[in-house]
Amino acid sequence: MTLTLAIHSSKGGTGKTSIAVNLAVAFASAGKDTCLIDMDLRGPSLCSMFKPKTHFWINDFLSGKCNLKDTLTDSKKDIGTSGHLYLSFSNPDIGEIRDLVSKDRNWQAGALKALMNGKRELAEENIDVTILDTSPGVEYESINAVAASDMVIIVHNDTKACHDCTEQLIKGVYTLLDKRCAIIDNMYHGNCLDIKEKNRYGVPVLTTIPCMCDIATRSKNEILVHSDPEHLFSKSIMTIKDKIEAMQ
Ligand SMILES: Nc1ncnc2c1ncn2[C@@H]1O[C@H](COP(=O)(O)OP(=O)(O)OP(=O)(O)O)[C@@H](O)[C@H]1O
Ligand SMILES: [Mg+2]
Repeated sequence: MTLTLAIHSSKGGTGKTSIAVNLAVAFASAGKDTCLIDMDLRGPSLCSMFKPKTHFWINDFLSGKCNLKDTLTDSKKDIGTSGHLYLSFSNPDIGEIRDLVSKDRNWQAGALKALMNGKRELAEENIDVTILDTSPGVEYESINAVAASDMVIIVHNDTKACHDCTEQLIKGVYTLLDKRCAIIDNMYHGNCLDIKEKNRYGVPVLTTIPCMCDIATRSKNEILVHSDPEHLFSKSIMTIKDKIEAMQ
């Protein structure tokens, strides 16, 4: 069965995309057939890191214009992973993003149905892990991704705003949708070795990743878990991967 993870956060810029991309490469490097879908339809990122090799975007699939398979680019050879690494890109065209804002509830309901069908498509292809990179907060697309997931990975920053909103999301969204959750503390400013917290708001904390300037300043296309496995960020990603697997 395919494990579907939604990488979500209450606030923007917490590190969701960095973690989603590295986690996908970590799973694929460990031989798992992996699919990474850019569900951040309002702020697409994958297309600035990888090159799509198909004419179909995830937007087309959600609108019922194609199958999920038609949107996938296999990056196994480009990156050199042992498992397949399928990528599904969100359309970065500004007109498409503006259009999305005006989509109504019916379109969003159809998009959720498409996502559920997409999960079945991926299960038929024997995909082991699917990762949905989402936009922050409670936009329809993110909540659809959360609803379609088996587990929500909450990327959390140590700010009061993030604390207040994450707690609300756990109580008001994930719990209501009956989702399993885990927290990643990212960009932590203190001494991570001092952190004893294993649970927050009743949710397990998988790891705490320090704030490291070089993560933001290295090349946009660099996937640390692949290019620099000894980097603390890469090691944290491997810990997250192992803990997620142990939780299944
Ligand atoms: N641990 C870290 N230390 C320092 N910088 C980090 C860390 N993790 C991620 N970053 C940097 O923070 C910035 C935001 O990261 P990223 O784009 O992954 O966040 P995001 O949650 O996906 O943002 P958005 O909500 O806009 O989609 C990037 O420049 C990234 O390189
Ligand atoms: Mg992002």
